[in-house]
Amino acid sequence: MPQYQRPTGTLDILPEEQPYWYHVRSRARHLAELAGFERMDVPIFETTEVFARGVGAGTDIVDKEMYSFEDKGGSPITLRPEFTAGIVRAYIENGMHVRSQPVKLYTFGPIFRYERPQAGRYRQHTQFNVEILGEQDPIADLEVMLLAWDLYADLGFRDLAFQLNSTGCPQCKPQYVSLLKAYYDERYAQACDDCHRRLERSPLRVLDCKSKQCQPIIAAAPHIADHLCPECEAHFAALRQYLELLERRYTINHLLVRGLDYYTKTVFEVWAAGIGAQSAVCGGGRYDGLAELLGGPPTPGVGFGSGMERIILVMQELDVEAPPIPSPAVFLVHLGAPAKRKALELTYALRTEDVSAWISHGDRGLRSQLREAGKRAAHYAVILGENELASGVASVRDMEAGEQVDVQLSDLVTWLKEHVRGRLSVPNTSR
Ligand code: HAM
Repeated sequence: MPQYQRPTGTLDILPEEQPYWYHVRSRARHLAELAGFERMDVPIFETTEVFARGVGAGTDIVDKEMYSFEDKGGSPITLRPEFTAGIVRAYIENGMHVRSQPVKLYTFGPIFRYERPQAGRYRQHTQFNVEILGEQDPIADLEVMLLAWDLYADLGFRDLAFQLNSTGCPQCKPQYVSLLKAYYDERYAQACDDCHRRLERSPLRVLDCKSKQCQPIIAAAPHIADHLCPECEAHFAALRQYLELLERRYTINHLLVRGLDYYTKTVFEVWAAGIGAQSAVCGGGRYDGLAELLGGPPTPGVGFGSGMERIILVMQELDVEAPPIPSPAVFLVHLGAPAKRKALELTYALRTEDVSAWISHGDRGLRSQLREAGKRAAHYAVILGENELASGVASVRDMEAGEQVDVQLSDLVTWLKEHVRGRLSVPNTSR
């Protein structure tokens, strides 16, 4: 047992797993930008109040899962347990409502929730998050949903379908909540203790209860979709029509209420097999009151978050491979101190020309260095020894074909630049 281990519920993402991360990030970024979303980054931590107000006191996230602390100056700080509240805070603070609306944003980054870890559920996970701010039209709901769908389809997911519901607005939601409470009042004794608490703090969440004793009550509970005001009803109907027009399958799920308080109207998730009980690969919805709640101008919004770890688990479950990250194109083998110095010069000359190059470390024999070039899957090994330096000609071995040619040292960089297939082509997607 090593002396130190990573904290419970966190992951180390080793180099061999990175191809998935590169691939998912680059496809997500590409598809987002294709649809006109712009990248925006917000801090990993915010004033606690942003989440307490935004996500809502009474939600599990705020009550049980936040990593909150006082910083050294005594300010209450929370590591972000989700993106949306921070992004809306930034939209308000940066006066983004004066830009042409809607503002379409995407981002990636770590999210922290003190949850009970299991497959697909971590205390630090990474989200791909998308928001459209300043648009009421259900076309915006559709746009974010399409982006999630198109990403998953692009990554090889099969049998896609949305779980879809509407949670109403401040006009119609309170009436539904009263109805639901009245319904539960009559069945109070049969409901679990957690639901008794939920009825006080976050009543819609009773529909999400997993306890066995509550299932018959939930099954017969009134559906919010049957109690929407005309505006919410029309919004929901238009969204469904758009989804049908574009042949994106959905299932109306009357129990889908989501665990964050800011939602109004549309809520949706995409579920996928292969990630255990935590089957939501993405979740999102509309939050038309959030900007005002955070002290900004009335600004409708809609978006989703998708856990990168869960996306990758689904890909692995489906045996979808990620394209490999190109290995160094050129491996420089050197024999003797003068050759080592020349190899070092050439390595940096190649890198300056955007050709990925790896110089052999240490002072080993020819065979051992060539073996390493093979293991690192280099396209070419350049062999430099006393003879090569004296003649001004290097031996260049094509590692796949096993053939060797002589190339003038003075032409070597140009020659390799023209011949390598694997020029440094990995985009910088580390953020
Ligand atoms: P959420 O449903 O809490 O929504 O999280 C979004 C996604 O993040 C989930 O569907 C899941 O893929 C991933 N996720 C959540 N918790 C964990 C975890 N503990 N471990 C691994 N993955 C996890 C939100 O966060 C909203 N801010 C989404 C949104 C954006 N709504 C509107 N705009």
